[in-house]
Amino acid sequence: KLGLIASVLFAGLLFNSNAHAAKTYQVATDAAYAPFESLNNKKEVVGFSVDILEAIAKKSGMTIKFINTPWEGIFATLSTGDRDMVISSVTITPERKQSMDFSDPYFEAKQLIAVGKNSKVSKFTDLKTLKVGVQTGTTGDEVIQKLQGKTSPNIKRFESTPLAIKELENGGVDAVVADNGVVVNFVANNPNSKLKMIDDATFAKEYYGIAVKKGNKALLEQINKGLAAIKADGTYDKIYNKYFGK
Ligand code: ARG
Repeated sequence: KLGLIASVLFAGLLFNSNAHAAKTYQVATDAAYAPFESLNNKKEVVGFSVDILEAIAKKSGMTIKFINTPWEGIFATLSTGDRDMVISSVTITPERKQSMDFSDPYFEAKQLIAVGKNSKVSKFTDLKTLKVGVQTGTTGDEVIQKLQGKTSPNIKRFESTPLAIKELENGGVDAVVADNGVVVNFVANNPNSKLKMIDDATFAKEYYGIAVKKGNKALLEQINKGLAAIKADGTYDKIYNKYFGK
């Protein structure tokens, strides 16, 4: 009998120590992208992407830790192993898929143009010869390269999207091309910014995914299962409405 009790205790001990040894997944995010990922006044990472990944983690029993990480080089943190995931409003593109793996989409977006209130710009092709600010290496950067050419001196690149918008407010650029959610959020929260938004029918739909190191199938499966579960049980919709509901 004593042996049985001892082995039960031992199993319990093992189980416990295992639980404690559970991995904490390091999550990279460029937290200058409200309402998706930004820092609150306590310097905590908050936003739609954060709530989504926290809900996913809860469902699939993962422990996660967000680490504010500069956009430039954010993907390299996966291949070096410094980070296990990137959730940073990252658009799933065929090119990016060659160097990392993506979860199922968790958000649909597209590009949007921001210009000064009195600007004559009314469509994307009007930006052909204008100075356009973008965040380096984003899909906004790719889109304007297609119009102006890769080496156009009129593409002004910034390390964050808020910096590009600041430059627009200062008159240093004529327009900014960035993800719609971020531009809408900025204009809504800065009524004195004297900016207006221009949508263009030629902008393609983009889908945000959570990126992991190429080949990390196990982690990807966990993420996708959790994402499916929060979509099925209404958690996703709750979070969506918190940020984007009317
Ligand atoms: N969706 C765009 C892209 O993937 C912009 C993402 C920028 N995200 C950020 N947290 N700064 O290129």
